[in-house]
Amino acid sequence: MRAMKTIKKTNPGDVSAKDDALKPRRAGVKTTPKTGRVSVKAVAEKPRRAADKTTAKPHPRGGSAKMPAPERGDALKPRHAASKAPGKQNSRNAAVETNAVKPRRVGTKLTRLLSLNVASTKPTIPAQENATKPRTSGTQTPSLTQWLLYCRAGFEQDCAQETLRQARQHKPVIAEQSDIINNSGYAVVTLNEQALSFRELIFARQLIRLHHTIDALPDRDRLTPILNAIAALPGNFGALWLEVPDTNDGKTLSAFVRRFQPLLETALREQGRLLDDVKSARLHIFFPDKASVLIGSSDPYNSSAALMGIARQSIPAEAPSRSTLKLAEAIETFMDKSEQTRLLRAGMTAVDLGAAPGGWTWQMVSRGIRVTAVDNGPMKGVLAKHPLVEHLRQDGFKFAPRKAVDWLICDMVEKPAKVAELVGAWFVAGWCKHAIFNLKLPMKQRVTALDAALGGIRSRLDEEGISYKLMAKQLYHDREEITVFLTKTKNR
Ligand SMILES: C[S@@+](CC[C@H](N)C(=O)[O-])C[C@H]1O[C@@H](n2cnc3c(N)ncnc32)[C@H](O)[C@@H]1O
Repeated sequence: MRAMKTIKKTNPGDVSAKDDALKPRRAGVKTTPKTGRVSVKAVAEKPRRAADKTTAKPHPRGGSAKMPAPERGDALKPRHAASKAPGKQNSRNAAVETNAVKPRRVGTKLTRLLSLNVASTKPTIPAQENATKPRTSGTQTPSLTQWLLYCRAGFEQDCAQETLRQARQHKPVIAEQSDIINNSGYAVVTLNEQALSFRELIFARQLIRLHHTIDALPDRDRLTPILNAIAALPGNFGALWLEVPDTNDGKTLSAFVRRFQPLLETALREQGRLLDDVKSARLHIFFPDKASVLIGSSDPYNSSAALMGIARQSIPAEAPSRSTLKLAEAIETFMDKSEQTRLLRAGMTAVDLGAAPGGWTWQMVSRGIRVTAVDNGPMKGVLAKHPLVEHLRQDGFKFAPRKAVDWLICDMVEKPAKVAELVGAWFVAGWCKHAIFNLKLPMKQRVTALDAALGGIRSRLDEEGISYKLMAKQLYHDREEITVFLTKTKNR
């Protein structure tokens, strides 16, 4: 993995409700002081679509002039091929190829490709049309796609890193690096033909195919450029979601977004572009600040069904700790309704390692599940004396159940490798059938640490011939941690 390019947010407090802060930025300015965002001058100077005439352009991160060279030689080949044969492409590509033969930096060339592909592609389906056109020497120019991912602020690098890694598992293996704005709550990655699986991404809260970025919305009329950009997209949309980053800056935009939503919604309904259909692509209008917008679409079958990718939970009055929300969200995230009914039944048994003060235990007993709560600390509230709870003051790493239970739940603060080893041992010993557990993340090399921990469980279970399903996610209620669901499936 190449080192990820990082752009620090230079002035995080700058996004305010004041319109002074919202003056449109001039196209062509390389780095905007407000966000530290790098713009690509060549694109800003020469818009080529009606929708782009003022400010719409591909997201600069995907085609940054500072984009590092691809990792392998083969990643470069398709672009060279494109620049060698400008006359053989369709008219859109011809423009690309003409620009491509000029001595330009790689990132600028890439941005020009993107400006065409993203606008000409159906929502949620990666652009294929250019990729399938014959090219010289048997090579093809890949279609480039940009993806907008929401994540917990501070985890943008991890989110982009694992997304690019997932993309590399598919061939052809080419994935452009993206610039990352630390603590922004989102990441944009540029790929070619790889599809992404939302389910398998741990750090991504939402997966959106990015079609347009407008970097300098005029503060007197933000609606028109957004409608123009949407007009360039084919098809209709099943829902309209206006979203902001899940950051303190993002929160200051909520009132603005609430005011803006009905304007856009009314316009799109009048145009017949917005239907109420849960099966159709959703249209996402994402405002990193009031002056810029990222416009994309999500596939309802390959994304989060929650606005901003946040499945909010309300804390039950009886639950003794806020941690209860983590397990509640994990149950909703990892299991559909029928699995919840099948796997969480009254009369089942569970062990809760690191149970105190009892938020996770509460989720289980509220479903009629009997819990052995292991922790040296006290259980609180209704759980201090609950008929379904047996509290044992023992070390969770040494505890062995008298007989097998249905569930292991574990929220002990320990190194991820140690917790993973423990969970693997429980499954191999046959002490439980299902588990939900937290892996606390280290400060650095989080993806590597998770790979090692989850890889350790997988190889242990594989060696023993145990069939299983494993899902992992950084939930909204997780902080420096992720939550994992592991369940035995029918043996092979
Ligand atoms: C984050 S808290 C758990 C919160 C709990 N899940 C809830 O919902 O209320 C972590 C707990 O793990 C316990 N713990 C840490 N190491 C442990 C160990 N080796 N054995 C048992 N408990 C441990 C701590 O005492 C602490 O109560």
